[in-house]
Amino acid sequence: MQATITLLPGDGIGPEVVYLTRDLLAAVARKFGHTFTFSEALIGGCALDAVGNSLPAETIQACEAADAVLLGAVGGAAGSRWSDPNAPDRPERGLLALRSHFKLFANLRPVTVFPALASGSPLRPELLEGVDILFVRELTGGAYFGEKREQGNGDVAWDTMIYTVAEVRRVLEVALKAARGRRKHVTSIDKANVLASSRLWRRTVESLRADYPDVTIEHALVDSFAMQLIRTPNRYDVVVAENMFGDILTDESAVLAGSLGLLPSASLGSGTFGVYEPIHGAAPDIAGKGIANPTGTILSGAMLLRHSLGLEAEAVAVEKAVKQAINDGLRTGDMVARGEQSVGSAAFAEAVRVRLES
Ligand code: IPM
Ligand code: MN
Repeated sequence: MQATITLLPGDGIGPEVVYLTRDLLAAVARKFGHTFTFSEALIGGCALDAVGNSLPAETIQACEAADAVLLGAVGGAAGSRWSDPNAPDRPERGLLALRSHFKLFANLRPVTVFPALASGSPLRPELLEGVDILFVRELTGGAYFGEKREQGNGDVAWDTMIYTVAEVRRVLEVALKAARGRRKHVTSIDKANVLASSRLWRRTVESLRADYPDVTIEHALVDSFAMQLIRTPNRYDVVVAENMFGDILTDESAVLAGSLGLLPSASLGSGTFGVYEPIHGAAPDIAGKGIANPTGTILSGAMLLRHSLGLEAEAVAVEKAVKQAINDGLRTGDMVARGEQSVGSAAFAEAVRVRLES
């Protein structure tokens, strides 16, 4: 097949992990006889520096012309030139505006544990056995996109967590349908004992129950779930949450996987177009050193093959190659347990490519 993929490397370690993943996707195309055309555009802090806008119009056009987008990360260190709270534009705004422009309301964040890495987790290995969670995070609503105001001399500020039934229903349907292809269990996260938007969320879940009699649906309050996720992670299958709860819980779940650098994501709307990105950020402290873990981005590339291009066998081949490299002992610095050797980003990605091609 022919496909166009737009790369948005962004800031910090974003370019390093995106270019390594592009090379791997090019290897997939060679192996399976596809033609992938790559274009590239600016987003985030580098776009602010170059053209004074965190999401330039040319970037939106480049994404509109593509079948899928592979994104690295946006943002800088605390105290960097992009962190002025009074600035009219910020790197993160570019990412939020991209999600909103393309109506990417469902963010899939799968969390699995590579058995070879379980000993490196701060959690006891037996807790991690069989962990396989699909987080579905609502991505274009809630406090991220509700009214934000500051008043007085900045003495008062508020963010509005706002949801409509239609917004909640469409993301719940993604979660419920995904559960049908898995273990048919959905945990819906809210704070219905306090928040009105959560009561709407819970009511909407109940209104869908009759349409999914084959799926077991439970509610969980976000605070107690945050604890249960660490105590009994293998109890969960699909977990669906509003935007900010999902943001927080998926960073927490990186402890299960062993490193934030391992986790991929897919941001999807109602069609096949999607934006794929690792869930880690720009990590400015290690940018340019060649030591970042490309796994989260490589696995995001696999999700791109699966969800936007419909190339399931190719996606599985990438996932298998990553698993083999890890089983063969390849580790970037963030993945090593005591006494283990680590390799740089490029050597790790190269090891994945060799296993893909063999
Ligand atoms: C993520 C990030 C973003 C978010 C930031 C960079 C705006 O943390 O993708 O999880 O909060 O959604
Ligand atoms: Mn986040």
